[in-house]
Amino acid sequence: MRYTDMLGIARSRDAVRVGTTMMLMAVMAVSVVSGHDYGDALSKSILFFEGQRSGKLPPSQRMTWRKDSGLRDGFEIGVDLVGGYYDAGDNVKFNFPMAWSTTMLAWGVSEFRRRMGPDLPHALDAIRWATDYFLKATSVPGIVFAQVGEPYGDHNCWQRPEDMDTPRTPYAVSAQFPGSEVSAEIAAALAAASLAFRPVDPHYSALLLSRAKEVFKFADKYQGSYNDHLGRWVCPFYCDFSGYEDELIWAASWLYRATKARKYWNYVAANIDNLEHYELKTIYSLSSNGGSFAEFGWDTKHAGISVLASKTVMKNSHYSDIFVLNADKFVCSVLPESPTKYVNYSPGGLLVKPGGSNLQHATALSFLLIVYARYMDRANRVIQCGDVKATPARLIQVAKGQVDYILGSNPLNMSYMVGYGRKFPQRFHHRGSSLPSLDQHPQLIGCKDGTLYFESSSPNPNLLTGAIVGGPDIQDQYNDSRVDIAHSEPTTYINAPLVGVLAFFKGQIEP
Ligand SMILES: *[C@@H]1O[C@H](CO)[C@@H](O)[C@H](O)[C@H]1NC(C)=O
Ligand SMILES: *[C@@H]1O[C@H](CO)[C@@H](O)[C@H](O)[C@H]1NC(C)=O
Repeated sequence: MRYTDMLGIARSRDAVRVGTTMMLMAVMAVSVVSGHDYGDALSKSILFFEGQRSGKLPPSQRMTWRKDSGLRDGFEIGVDLVGGYYDAGDNVKFNFPMAWSTTMLAWGVSEFRRRMGPDLPHALDAIRWATDYFLKATSVPGIVFAQVGEPYGDHNCWQRPEDMDTPRTPYAVSAQFPGSEVSAEIAAALAAASLAFRPVDPHYSALLLSRAKEVFKFADKYQGSYNDHLGRWVCPFYCDFSGYEDELIWAASWLYRATKARKYWNYVAANIDNLEHYELKTIYSLSSNGGSFAEFGWDTKHAGISVLASKTVMKNSHYSDIFVLNADKFVCSVLPESPTKYVNYSPGGLLVKPGGSNLQHATALSFLLIVYARYMDRANRVIQCGDVKATPARLIQVAKGQVDYILGSNPLNMSYMVGYGRKFPQRFHHRGSSLPSLDQHPQLIGCKDGTLYFESSSPNPNLLTGAIVGGPDIQDQYNDSRVDIAHSEPTTYINAPLVGVLAFFKGQIEP
């Protein structure tokens, strides 16, 4: 997140929906000089989450330059909100994107568990670090905590999490001041995590599921957006741009998968038309072809719902079902050769969408491509995008192109994952990584005392292993500069979807 007083530019994520005139770029095939160590990248992508931990660190902490922090979060109002993850390069706990990242980690584990090998326990730890916190954030009936940390105070300082002395204000939604997007996304995360834990810790899994049901009920009964009363603090950072209907349906889809209770499927089926109407006709009305199906991220769940729900209907050969049709449209809006493609590709082959932190799109859309390819494969299906045929193998190949690009198969030969490969980002926008660690510098570094380090041209002293930065621009260029937030800031929601993708490729037997 921004170091606002130094930069006064509008947050890039605000601009995500703005770009309408798209340049059609010539698409080059991604070079196949891969030979990447997906196992190494997988381990590192999970390790990153240890660097984002808030709270009391356990003896098993492997990223040891990080220390305890935020140990009194929530105490000012008598609630224990210790734990969870710092969002990105800042020290705020934004529960809306944190919950989506958790849902994606859990989806990755439940889909690719058997391919994770020795990384499975670490992946489960990464999920549990969030779900333990979400159990706290939903422990007071009738209230769901939406955020901890006053964002303007935080962003005005360049400070280690261990030193934070800015207001750690907790923000909540309630029946009177609802926030269905943040509540429903937390419900989705808890339900998805219950599936991830089911084979290894049935007790914890049951606890997560029962809380997921309660939180969903609350989110659905008291409908509204947290923008309306928390807008001053959640916007412009994680404003809910696309409405809360998608999170409600997404949460119900996860509850259906976790419980198989008909009422959740009925909820999904009954509300999907509204979502189509609302999202595709209202939110994306700017777009020239009537809306994009290639939307999936912390704010918009549309394509994710289509793919998730398609598994259920495809099993019964209901290929004309709306979820399958929409998942097919999603594929056709992503594949480079598709006549209805609705994303751009850089000359080097990177998927690019408008706005900052672009690699969030490359990772999230690659995840969906792989998951859907597997469902298609099981159902023996091939999709037609106009007169272009899309096989499951092609979907996987496109996702592999994105992963390989991120890991270094690109015009700069640059890995965008910190600590992976020979050349990777050194000056990325991250407070903890760029300031000397407590081991090196035990004295407090005050709010403005960090400026020196922020402005320094030296590499970050602490290796935030596995962090994936926002990524290069549409010309495949990258500046490696702390000031260049839109390109150099790592976030939890860039990494989270890639964990499952890397597990898939690690376990893939090359032909
Ligand atoms: C990237 O690697 C290729 C193959 O080794 C090489 O030909 C090319 O010059 C390198 N590009 C850069 C920018 O280092
Ligand atoms: C890199 O910095 C230059 C000069 O400040 C700027 O013009 C360019 O847009 C930046 N490129 C990227 C990829 O951010």
